[in-house]
Amino acid sequence: MGHWKLDDIKWDQFNADAVDLRLLELVKAASLVEANSGDYVTYLNRVFNNDARVKAAFEQWGVEEIQHGQALGRWAEMADPSFSFERALSDFRQNYSLPLDADESVRGSRTGELVSRCVIESGTSSFYTAIKDGTDEPVLKQIAGHIAADEFRHYALFLTKLQTFEADERVTLMDRVKVAIGRLRETEDDELAMAYYCANHIGAGIAYDREANWAAYEGRALDYYQQRHILRATSMMVKAMGLHPHGWFANFMGKVTWAGFRAKRWQHQRAAGQEQQAIAA
Ligand SMILES: [Fe+2]
Ligand SMILES: [Fe+2]
Repeated sequence: MGHWKLDDIKWDQFNADAVDLRLLELVKAASLVEANSGDYVTYLNRVFNNDARVKAAFEQWGVEEIQHGQALGRWAEMADPSFSFERALSDFRQNYSLPLDADESVRGSRTGELVSRCVIESGTSSFYTAIKDGTDEPVLKQIAGHIAADEFRHYALFLTKLQTFEADERVTLMDRVKVAIGRLRETEDDELAMAYYCANHIGAGIAYDREANWAAYEGRALDYYQQRHILRATSMMVKAMGLHPHGWFANFMGKVTWAGFRAKRWQHQRAAGQEQQAIAA
């Protein structure tokens, strides 16, 4: 059983006037990535060879991630009745898939795989907290609050499992740092860009352009982050690397990451301003 159900959301509080269209495009994309998590359960169970210490937890985790997609998709359909969550999800699945035939973790070890999962859950917990804090639409606020709480629990789950497997595998600190940084870099790979495209553009006869769709996704996401969201996420990631979550390295990483976010946000805002000027000219 999950910690909440779709029926727990007070859908009748929906306020169409409080929907931000840029955020709506972001939520549509996020709904597809979340709903596709069933594939990750298949991959994780292969990588962990159906180990009884993790199998049931992975399966429950997958159920919760799929529910995140369903909740966000239902909200997006309320906010934009022309959007079909099922159709967009079907388009996404046709255009993006995970390496389900892997028998070993692409992170080099099971410990590495769990570090990578902790990095993702740190990112998603901060992402949904930022949306919860940033939106005035009451139903989305509830959904994002529930999802953020789940993502924090998922992080704790993978961190606990990480402590089980690291005793067997003796993965070095440097390897863990490399996995974490490598996983962060992959954020710009195809998954989010393709989800954004399938959620927002695929039916309009526009060809897929990974860089343009990633930029559209990133620009919208950056609108919502505040410093405290970034500092918490970096602290969680640093802990998964095996370092003190509030030590000098965590503080340094938090400051550098927040500076990077602000610089990127400024770049996106400047590009959007130049686009507006070009349209007006
Ligand atoms: Fe999720
Ligand atoms: Fe999660």
